[in-house]
Amino acid sequence: MVRKLIFGSRYFGKGSTDCGPGEEEIEHAHSLSTILVYVYAFCVTDYIPWLRWKTDFDGHEKSIRNAILTARKYQDPLIDERIQQWKDGVRTKQDDLLDVFINLNEPQLNADEIKAQILDLILAAFVNVSNNIEWAMAEMMNEPRIFDKAVHELDLVVGKERLVQEFDLHNLNYIKACVKEALRLHPVAPFNLPHVTTADSIVAGYFIPTRSHVMVSRIGLSRNPKVWDNPLTFNPNRHMNARLVQGFTWELPPNEPHVDLKENLHDLAKAKPLFALVKPRLSHHIYPTLDHDGDAS
Ligand code: HEM
Repeated sequence: MVRKLIFGSRYFGKGSTDCGPGEEEIEHAHSLSTILVYVYAFCVTDYIPWLRWKTDFDGHEKSIRNAILTARKYQDPLIDERIQQWKDGVRTKQDDLLDVFINLNEPQLNADEIKAQILDLILAAFVNVSNNIEWAMAEMMNEPRIFDKAVHELDLVVGKERLVQEFDLHNLNYIKACVKEALRLHPVAPFNLPHVTTADSIVAGYFIPTRSHVMVSRIGLSRNPKVWDNPLTFNPNRHMNARLVQGFTWELPPNEPHVDLKENLHDLAKAKPLFALVKPRLSHHIYPTLDHDGDAS
């Protein structure tokens, strides 16, 4: 979409003669990283708002404003150019998301709204993807057995006569497991985006009052030893099993003749939670978290 962008988490070159990123790419990427760093920064004025009355108390606003200006310096002219191409009729075929945004009717987006959408998307898609690729490659290079297995799967599914395509993915289960394992072990940030609760809530027995800042720990979830065996080990095999059907018998509760398949009105999730009586059906040693009576702990 934006022809001058390089998505990557590290930059080694200064200037573009070595085929690496040039000054402009580096400045653009640096501005995006700066904006993302401040998403998680502790800001005193979030908690004592009157300190904002006269001044940008902790200097965050200035840094973010400058970073946004820098990012937009590179992005916005390309977006304006594209809008003009549609106005002049020199562009008539929608090739990418920017073309789609420009031609939307419901709702119609003006130039500022398109620029804001593009900035949000570039920020959202920037570090997660490059971080995941970098960590997956790093972990696999340290485990040649895993790397070989991934290459073997590619050779089997795709062969050596063509490059892998997106439609191959559903046959590349081991590759997908490697990606999932890199995402589990190495989220790019320790927390999900900050959220604010809109109502009093209870989660896992904890009371969370309305208007609380909620930060979900990605590390706490994905490296939790109560959930994952050897949580710090890169082991794609842990994602290879669809265990619910294999591992348990599934029965309806006694007073329910069938599962109610009604959907929610506001989304397509199941309206009522699924209740079922499940019992382990494989050898006992396969269930490391069962107690001696066969109950899950
Ligand atoms: C490995 C790849 C990715 C990971 C791990 C990832 C992860 C996440 C996470 C954790 C959030 C925050 C959810 C929340 O707590 O609200 C998020 C938000 C988002 N992601 Fe991704 N993402 C990835 C790739 C992408 C890509 C490729 C795109 C778009 C092309 C994208 C678009 C978005 C958008 C638009 C948001 C919402 C941002 C906002 O609230 O302004 N993501 N992503």
